[in-house]
Amino acid sequence: MENYKKLKSVIFFIFGGSGDLNYRKLNPALFNLYLNGALPENFQIVGIARTKYSDEKYKAHLKEGIKEFSRTKDKNGNWQKFAEHISYIEMDAADSGAYKQLEKLTAEMEKETGVHPIVVFYMAVAPQLVPQIVENIGKLQICHNVECTRIVVEKPFGHDLESAITLNNILLKQFEEDQIYRIDHYLGKETVQNILALRFANSLFEPLWNRNYIEHVQITAAETVGVEGRGGYYEQAGALRDMIQNHILQLLCMIGMEPPVFFSADEIRNKKVDVLHAIRIIKPDEVQHYATRGQYGAGWMEGEKVEGYRQEPNVNPTSTTETFAAVKFFIDNWRWEGVPFYVRTGKRLHQKTTEVTIQFKPAPDFSFPKEATETWRSNRLSIGISPMMNIQLRFQAKHPGQTLILTPVDMEFDYQNSFNGDEPEAYETLLYDVVDGDATLFMRADQVEAAWKIIMPILNVWKERRPLDFPDYTPGSWGPEDAEALIARDGHNWIVSTKKQ
Ligand code: BG6
Repeated sequence: MENYKKLKSVIFFIFGGSGDLNYRKLNPALFNLYLNGALPENFQIVGIARTKYSDEKYKAHLKEGIKEFSRTKDKNGNWQKFAEHISYIEMDAADSGAYKQLEKLTAEMEKETGVHPIVVFYMAVAPQLVPQIVENIGKLQICHNVECTRIVVEKPFGHDLESAITLNNILLKQFEEDQIYRIDHYLGKETVQNILALRFANSLFEPLWNRNYIEHVQITAAETVGVEGRGGYYEQAGALRDMIQNHILQLLCMIGMEPPVFFSADEIRNKKVDVLHAIRIIKPDEVQHYATRGQYGAGWMEGEKVEGYRQEPNVNPTSTTETFAAVKFFIDNWRWEGVPFYVRTGKRLHQKTTEVTIQFKPAPDFSFPKEATETWRSNRLSIGISPMMNIQLRFQAKHPGQTLILTPVDMEFDYQNSFNGDEPEAYETLLYDVVDGDATLFMRADQVEAAWKIIMPILNVWKERRPLDFPDYTPGSWGPEDAEALIARDGHNWIVSTKKQ
């Protein structure tokens, strides 16, 4: 069991308490933290939503979520004890009078325990509800306790640059920046955090981590699922907003950033935002060259018939929303000048995999006979983010035998083999950090805005030029042909290092 710090008592107010995010992610994560002894002795979880529930019915509902989605389930029958800390408030977010209950509950907890608890307001609601809730909780006294009160805001953080700035302003009117935790769950993944360890705790990689040795970088975040009943949200989002503006650009920052001088939330976020500022803004007339999109049609996946995107519930039958996006970025700084970063993401693709590939430049091959080098490949470092959690380093070896043949082989580190395979889920790490007051893995206002600035030209051009060939890829493929062309023009191809599971 991990050594967790002893935290102060805490009360979580989860807006959207009856929703999917709480059911699938937040409540299972809190339960696992409890099982691991990471939550303080005094904690309360208050679900808030409009749905009618008694406390008991609410707990029974959340227990179902544990059965379905928790990595540990309720093996030792601890749910009952945990559930004693859960309650439910049926409330309309627009009813400003109702918010007083939250202050009352906090005061009661303080009276019982003798200490003012950490107060966490978690916005697990549709984005359009956030401003109203923030305004209402802003009227509560507890909101202005900078030390103890925190607000967690889920993605999508705005719909474009303008709305993200507006949302930041709304939040910053009621809270200090230090109280605001903008979640990007990718940053809570063990494998993503490990990128910092790989790069900055080893002397081996850092000297090579630049334009002199690296030919290009690839980031793939591929999913086999469709939009999973989230058509209403996805119609407004699309792959570029849903995945690239946040998760993928954050991964890119981890790969591209300079070493932090020390490990503090702001130092690490400063280094990451530097990368975002250095990403070349794509000019409108170049968007076609640097970015491409696609949409899945109907077809078959692993023997099962699947609907096309346009046939999914709450999707316009003539929708032009992209379910696939690929972009070539450049980071215009000393380290990365001229090194392309190819990123792609999509739904209903061939394989579920999120991975990063660092493709090194080829070694000069003149000293070997031509036949020896026919099968060799340049060095490559592949970082499996999920579901494979591994790092592979490809290098050349001499194939055994009389004839000199050089062939690529892999050295591999795998979480499952090296550790006990019991890594915390992203939301466990992130929720613990919120209570602990550590914002390292959360997005600062300037980061979110810088990320929007990068993708706005693509969004604008795509909005203007409606795609005429949608749907343009079949389920189970690797996306539209244009995505192959985007990278093939530079003489490369998309790489998938992890095996289909
Ligand atoms: C979410 C997106 O942020 O990330 C989803 O809204 C996507 O559309 C999900 O499916 C992918 O997360 P993961 O952790 O499964 O890679």
